[in-house]
Amino acid sequence: MTQEELFKKLIAHSKEYGFIFPSSEIYDGLSAVYDYGQMGVELKNNIKRYWWDSMVKLHPNIVGIDAAIFMHPRTWEASGHVGAFNDPLIDNKDSKKRYRADVLIEEHLAKLDEKIEKEVAKARKRFGDSFDEKQYRATSPRVAEIAAKRDEVHSRMVKALNDSDLEELRQIIVDAEVVCPISGTRNWTEVRQFNLMFDTKIGSVAEGANTIYLRPETAQGIFVNFLNVQKTGRMKIPFGIAQIGKAFRNEIVARQFIFRMREFEQMEMQFFVRPGEEIKWYDHWKELRMKWHRALGFGDEKYRFHDHDKLAHYANAAADIEFNFPFGFKEVEGIHSRTDFDLGNHQKFSGKKIQYFDPETGESYVPYVVETSIGVDRMVLQVLSAAYTEEKLDSGEERTVLRIPPAIAPVKAAILPLVKKDGLPEIARQIVSALKYDHIVQYDEKDSIGKRYRRQDAIGSPLCITVDHETVTDNTVTVRYRDSMEQQRIPVSEIPAVVAETVSMKKLFAELEA
Ligand code: GAP
Repeated sequence: MTQEELFKKLIAHSKEYGFIFPSSEIYDGLSAVYDYGQMGVELKNNIKRYWWDSMVKLHPNIVGIDAAIFMHPRTWEASGHVGAFNDPLIDNKDSKKRYRADVLIEEHLAKLDEKIEKEVAKARKRFGDSFDEKQYRATSPRVAEIAAKRDEVHSRMVKALNDSDLEELRQIIVDAEVVCPISGTRNWTEVRQFNLMFDTKIGSVAEGANTIYLRPETAQGIFVNFLNVQKTGRMKIPFGIAQIGKAFRNEIVARQFIFRMREFEQMEMQFFVRPGEEIKWYDHWKELRMKWHRALGFGDEKYRFHDHDKLAHYANAAADIEFNFPFGFKEVEGIHSRTDFDLGNHQKFSGKKIQYFDPETGESYVPYVVETSIGVDRMVLQVLSAAYTEEKLDSGEERTVLRIPPAIAPVKAAILPLVKKDGLPEIARQIVSALKYDHIVQYDEKDSIGKRYRRQDAIGSPLCITVDHETVTDNTVTVRYRDSMEQQRIPVSEIPAVVAETVSMKKLFAELEA
């Protein structure tokens, strides 16, 4: 199965099993907006819980807030979003399709990288066992030629983006002979800047109303509350403020399912530090955030860091954590050293002093900030793409299983009476009652036991507990584990402990602190 096929299947599976639906689907949907169904919302809540607890519970110096989506419009002038939160867009005159100019160039660069890999693969085949890949990469004239082309385009793009040189961006596209994937032509418009913020009016009468924005990041709600939290919480630097909430961006190219949405959710933590100590903390948070991802157990090779070529208007260092999605390595999280840009600008724009008196040094200063910022929806996509597995069993049967880490799986256990009579449903319902205060569990008595197992595999439930005739006589049940499909006989009295142990988040947290 190709990665493209896998991705299509994943989207279909997400809908079929109640994870993700297109928004307002009965009206043919709304581009780049999605709804979470009954399984999706549980998965999303568990991911949020994993993030929130890893920040707020595990760190005595990190507290949470929940700021409003609407903020005073001056916020977005101070943050630089009104002036600089733009994407360079370009249209193809024949297909009338709109693209981000930098993305078109990056896709061209990826093609050149692919060409190099093809050359290496060809040589490997030609030379067989004696192939020295390192030497070939260093000495092949063909590889050198493609790499030189790649490096030239790359450095031109970085310079053009840093200088906001839109003509040069267009020229790179023309020189590289980039064609529109739809029309196949090179008939491009000029490149224009496009602000990604949605605006709306506040107040009942449009004429007298003020323009306000739907927040494009949750971070600003933290910055404007810096003094409130620091003072009321008697927080001492270094300390962090965490927040989970919706953000909105009018993305030009909204593609790849829930990877790039116009309404999405972020989990952001701003960590306030002494000026001059920001790079030390930036390195610390880079490492810790990578551990958080890896603790889920999808395989360390699925993640990598990508240091930014073009720094955002507020940063002096920035890196992404990328995950290997079915469409390649892409960003799931950003770690940014934001300097004192935000607090400094809010001080300037509001006219209010935003400073911290450091009792250890006896100085007052505007703190520096290290931010960790992750999209909830991209995490959901990461989990679903890593978990989706099609297996052929020894019996010849096939099963589709979501190998979601038990701690974040939507349903923790299914309770299944073998038959709908002989008192088995009553016992099964008693087991449900014993578990329901602590876990999401499902009761299912319909169809054969095999079919019920398949249904639970498809939504990723880690445990199935079957009540059979033996249960009536000896008070034991069969526990079936999703991944190994192993079955174990245990007393009914041990069920709560087995479920709690299997789905506990403690193991994940222990890895973060190892
Ligand atoms: N406060 C910093 C900030 O917002 P960002 O790199 O623009 O930085 C952070 O966004 C994270 O938010 C990304 O790593 C991604 O996971 C998520 N994100 C950004 N735009 C998104 C979109 N259109 N759809 C889904 N998630 C998005």
